[in-house]
Amino acid sequence: MDVIDIVVAKRESRELTDEQIDWLIPAYTGGVVADEQMSALAMAILLNGMTRREISRWTDAMIRTGIRMDFSALDRPTSDKHSTGGVGDKITLPLAPLVASCGAAVPQLSGRGLGHTGGTLDKLESIPGWRAQLSEREMLDVLREAGAVVCAAGEGLAPADKKLYALRDVTGTVESIPLIASSIMSKKIAEGTGALVLDVKVGTGAFMKDLTKARELAETMVSLGTDHGVKTVALLTDMDTPLGLTAGNALEVRESVEVLAGGGPADVVELTVALAREMLANAGITGVDPAENLGNGKAMDAWRRMIAAQGGDPDAVLPVAREQHVITADRSGTLTRLDALQVGVAAWRLGAGRARKEDPVQAGAGVEMHAKPGDAVTAGQPLLTLHTDTPERFAPAIESLGGAWDIEQGNDEYVARQLLLD
Ligand code: URA
Repeated sequence: MDVIDIVVAKRESRELTDEQIDWLIPAYTGGVVADEQMSALAMAILLNGMTRREISRWTDAMIRTGIRMDFSALDRPTSDKHSTGGVGDKITLPLAPLVASCGAAVPQLSGRGLGHTGGTLDKLESIPGWRAQLSEREMLDVLREAGAVVCAAGEGLAPADKKLYALRDVTGTVESIPLIASSIMSKKIAEGTGALVLDVKVGTGAFMKDLTKARELAETMVSLGTDHGVKTVALLTDMDTPLGLTAGNALEVRESVEVLAGGGPADVVELTVALAREMLANAGITGVDPAENLGNGKAMDAWRRMIAAQGGDPDAVLPVAREQHVITADRSGTLTRLDALQVGVAAWRLGAGRARKEDPVQAGAGVEMHAKPGDAVTAGQPLLTLHTDTPERFAPAIESLGGAWDIEQGNDEYVARQLLLD
């Protein structure tokens, strides 16, 4: 097999054969195919696309480079959720224990943040003592103990994706629907969940800026899951506006605990409950209303067990950034827009996110929002509070917030965009 034939075939928009894909993926993972050859192929795929058959075979080949986990020994069905990433997207934190409290097991392998989108592991690591790195055995123990586990993917899970994703990141080839779909689904299928709900984000703070592309990504991922025996459904949800009132690690943990205690921002509650319903239905669990478990302490109990089982102290005081800077509204009216991407970039610049994989994050850094689109605001009232340990970060964060919101007078009838799009 010759890699150059494969690159040329895709450059000329021809469909790759099963044999070509089955040879290529392990050859790249094992170092037989060079990074420069794979990056030429990734660019050809980005420009010319792939058929559903090619994407399915590609995903299968990626899964086969590593282990496929198996939770069939558990006495309850497994159900997981994956979000394509956004700003203030802390939903996994209340969702995993909520779904566990309703009778499913949630085996979630999560990632760290890169760029303006936050990472679930970074958020949970702001809880003193909490450990992201678990062996497969420990993962099973936490699942048995708490019904939900959120941890880092081990080295053995879809190693082809680890290498290919790092290459795409530095060659301008991340934004390809076949490559995003196969990357996400190879990891989720290898994770061993029986059912999966995809939360595909659409808007300025998401990978997919428009609904048509987001729908195509969702459909591609659903068919990949189904082809591989994982019961998969997708929701398309808004990411033009940040989720909830916080973007940043410890800030988002605090907000998630409020939701688990029966409070918290309405949009976070709405999405958590909607996703929980889908996850439970997908796992064949009926007759439980997840909304009830947010108010009656059951989801909170599962959260406390989940955090403690991974070494964390659910009662610990969460880190708070050393410095705060308040931005006030310059006029009165209705807040009609608050841009997710700009808030995400500000949180990142304040220290909540990282520019390179090896960078540390600040647990207390981020952006707290005091109003959301649809709210009435008065000139001089706090709109955003910026948090950081390093005050020299305020100026770049403020710069990235330039033009991030609109306050309109005489627009009392304004209706905020729906959260659940499809
Ligand atoms: N997340 C992934 O895991 N892979 C992608 O390609 C994009 C987002």
